[in-house]
Amino acid sequence: MTDMTAFWANTLRSHWGLEAKLSRLDGEYDLNFLVQATNGQDYVFKIMRAGCARELVDLQIEALEHIATEAPGLPLPKVLPDLKGALLIDIQDETGEQRLAWLLERLPGQCYAKATPKSEDLILKLGRVLGATDRALEQFRHNSLHRDGFKWDLTQAGWVADKLNTVSDPDRRALLATIATEFDGIADQLSALPKQAVHNDANDYNILVEGELGQRKTISGLIDLGDMCAAPRICDLAIAGAYIVLDHPKPERALTALVRGYHAANRLSPEEVDLIWPLLRMRLAVSVVNSTLMAIENPNDPYVTISQAPAWRFLENTSINGGLMPARLRAACGLPVTDAAERVHTYLSDHRGHFAQMFDQDLSDAPMGSLSVENSAWPQNPFHMPLEEAAKVGEEFGEGLWLGYYNEPRLIYTEPGFRKGPWKASDRRTVHLAVDVFAPAGAVLHAPMSARVEAVENRDNHLDYGGVVILHHETPEGDPFYTLYGHLDPEVCGRLKPGDPVAQGAAFARLGDASQNGGWAPHVHFQLALTTDGMEADWPGVGDPDEMELWHAICPNPAALLNLPDDKVFYRPTDKQAILQGRHDHFGGNLSLTYDDPVMLVRGWKHHLFDEWGRPYLDAYNNVPHVGHAHPRIQAVAADQLKRMNSNTRYLHPAQTAFAEKILSKLPDQLKVCFFVNSGTEANELALRLARAHTKAKGIVTPDHGYHGNTNAAVAISAYKFNKPGGNGQADWVELVEVADDFRGSFKRDDPDRAAKFADLVDRAITTLQEKGHGVAGFIAETFPSVGGQIIPPKGYLPAVYEKIRAAGGVCIADEVQTGLGRLGEHYFGFEHQGAVPDIVVLGKPIGNGHPLGVLVTTREIAESFDNGIEFFSTFGGSTLSCRIGKEVLDIVDDEDLQDNARRMGSRLLDGLRQIEAQFGCVGDVRGMGLFLGVELVNPDGTDGTEICKYVKNRMRDHRILIGSEGPKDNILKIRPPLTIGAEDVDMILWALREVLSEVGEFTPAPVCDHDHHHAGCGCC
Ligand SMILES: Cc1ncc(COP(=O)(O)O)c(C=O)c1O
Repeated sequence: MTDMTAFWANTLRSHWGLEAKLSRLDGEYDLNFLVQATNGQDYVFKIMRAGCARELVDLQIEALEHIATEAPGLPLPKVLPDLKGALLIDIQDETGEQRLAWLLERLPGQCYAKATPKSEDLILKLGRVLGATDRALEQFRHNSLHRDGFKWDLTQAGWVADKLNTVSDPDRRALLATIATEFDGIADQLSALPKQAVHNDANDYNILVEGELGQRKTISGLIDLGDMCAAPRICDLAIAGAYIVLDHPKPERALTALVRGYHAANRLSPEEVDLIWPLLRMRLAVSVVNSTLMAIENPNDPYVTISQAPAWRFLENTSINGGLMPARLRAACGLPVTDAAERVHTYLSDHRGHFAQMFDQDLSDAPMGSLSVENSAWPQNPFHMPLEEAAKVGEEFGEGLWLGYYNEPRLIYTEPGFRKGPWKASDRRTVHLAVDVFAPAGAVLHAPMSARVEAVENRDNHLDYGGVVILHHETPEGDPFYTLYGHLDPEVCGRLKPGDPVAQGAAFARLGDASQNGGWAPHVHFQLALTTDGMEADWPGVGDPDEMELWHAICPNPAALLNLPDDKVFYRPTDKQAILQGRHDHFGGNLSLTYDDPVMLVRGWKHHLFDEWGRPYLDAYNNVPHVGHAHPRIQAVAADQLKRMNSNTRYLHPAQTAFAEKILSKLPDQLKVCFFVNSGTEANELALRLARAHTKAKGIVTPDHGYHGNTNAAVAISAYKFNKPGGNGQADWVELVEVADDFRGSFKRDDPDRAAKFADLVDRAITTLQEKGHGVAGFIAETFPSVGGQIIPPKGYLPAVYEKIRAAGGVCIADEVQTGLGRLGEHYFGFEHQGAVPDIVVLGKPIGNGHPLGVLVTTREIAESFDNGIEFFSTFGGSTLSCRIGKEVLDIVDDEDLQDNARRMGSRLLDGLRQIEAQFGCVGDVRGMGLFLGVELVNPDGTDGTEICKYVKNRMRDHRILIGSEGPKDNILKIRPPLTIGAEDVDMILWALREVLSEVGEFTPAPVCDHDHHHAGCGCC
């Protein structure tokens, strides 16, 4: 211990009666110690720099005392009095200098700067804490609150304008000058607001965050009141906002969450909300100018420049629309987006029925046509709208007049401009903000009320508006609002110009045809807006489903102007919560749902899925849609066959033999006979019957943790089910052998004989079955165990096992449900990798691409043993439809070279995953082949990372990537996408996985709870 530390430890003992270990904390000017006292409590001991103004310390102490009384639940530290009751003591330090010292409670948690992820939920909570703190401080008074010339007082931030010449980059100087001018522009509004005591520095090092991995994090501390001053409370919020937005992936959403939280705790006026954005920018201007000045003073300190970088990145980010910010923040607070908004709503509502008809007919009886994600298949490929399709959108609703919904999520907006990130599964704008009126090209449009032309243009970009007009209206009270008409015949551009009057009912434009209107089926996109700030003439016609509170407020339902009731044109997607309730009401509890926040998926295309709001998800989990979701050839073959007939195997049909021949062409010659059933389960059931008929024995050997299906016998050979808590336990005729897992199992990868050693374990199982009198009917295994943890057995394992089983009289069954049909890239079937030839092969899931289909293939000899006089019949197994679909799937795998794609994409994934493994301690193993991959997660102590895996799976879902988890301890990420996945998607998976794993950090799980009942205090139950 240094003399200095010993001195202050002594001071703590003599003044506070605390025996403690002291360690230095960072502090710009003052001396701060972390105090770990022998009473088990931690404190922060603050020794102010010599000459520090006593009244500024006194200000902080009194403010903390005030908050503790006014709002004792807030996470601000309490001040601890010394033995004489003093909160601040005067003391001569070991060098003889006079210092002020005080002791504070130490709050738990890590600083916000280091906390990840910075979720909107967490930021909202921060807003609440800050709002409640400002509320608690409202009546606080102190002489030192008014700090003249204090550079961090935002109301006095004008000093920045005088120092702009220190910023050498002319563009940056100009940007700061603009911000300073905007700040001048709000001077009157700012000075009209009441001042109060504010924290004034809620930066990300002054906020503490607490929460276990996977739990919702909370704000556990707001510390350091050293910059307190008197200012309008909105300054406090803007300052917090200035830090929250920096390097946040969604800065506007982050700020919105902060303001919403603040408003919930401390109601803001619309005028205050409008000041947040200019104040926030001014605070960042103060920061960068201040550090520029510091850099001049300390030219050798690179940190000063580095610390400016995030602020510059934000200020120079042109993708943030500041013009929309007031409306965005007002909407977040549930405040009207413009001061006139409520009056305009009342006017429109009161005049419903009295506006001029837009078309020559009353729209009240016009039918609605839905183009929603749920109700329509427009466009077939949700990532590409060809002009031929655009020109026919909605053709199913006929050639007469029909209406398209407001608030309807649609997938027809496929141009890159609708996407908000680099990936196909990035945020996407989908929700229609207008009402469409579909009518023949040339139909004449009349103005619903008098107006002035605001804008008229021909936007002839691909799938844009073509001719578009914006009209400016005014209510009789003089409140403005605007209407937009898109997809017009561009001849309107020659007739109208901005400023032209348009009388109520005047015919001012007509509908364009597809060659004139951007390429669409003829219709008008009719949108209302209460303000054009931030949009000007470039209104978004569709919004992000996660920002509808903003868009509903700026662009409300325009039904009134069409003389229609709002409800008629307002689309409501299926309510996910209602469906969830229906699940609970109508189904058993063990019908499990994936994710803490389940997804409802209503459309798919290749390896992407879409929820009811059109949010895209990358499907990196589902192997059933082997050739991709909604494959056009599968659609076509199914529709074609259903139009003709669908019958069973009691009658001849060429589709049956065609399917059989296609499968057999992929298999070794010995496998000659096919049985068609409905599922993998049924195929495995049948495999057991065949094995027993052929061997006259009953016993089955199978690896532990396997899964073969959901019927009685299939469960009996699935340790993954019967050995689970609540399972039936192991049947007498089943013998388990250890899975050939050379990562966790008995024999590891560094053992060259591991394949033989794992295979030798079968000997004991055979002997046991023989001793019990069951004999050996066979061995069944998932060729590469999947639910067991995506395991690739060492080469040579299966041939060795098969030899032993055959020697014991049994048959060898390969369950290729997970591994077959090209998924492995290098091999069409898993047994090829092993160099083994099974007697029975079971196929399921992917072979029907979603259609229920299972296939068993065996030798002629085994089939003959089974042909014992009893008919084999499966009503739907081998139906005409099934056979055609099954054959089509196998043809597509060949025609689209999907096996090779699995090989190429699998190796790209595996390479990336191996790099990730090298970077992140929690990745214990990466394994797999082709698109059958597993990532085993471990805790820092090497134990199974079950909690980490759950966290990663759920966070990947937040990033819109579906992956699974598997393994006996559920700690293995399962990546198993449709075989269509592309390089861009693989890169997205790798990017997101890196992001998520970096949030995991050095997570250590809570101690395992072995308490049967809830046991308060153990921390785990
Ligand atoms: C390896 C394996 N075999 C059999 C089955 C059962 O197939 P189904 O669910 O089609 O009955 C599954 C299902 O997950 C499986 O993974």
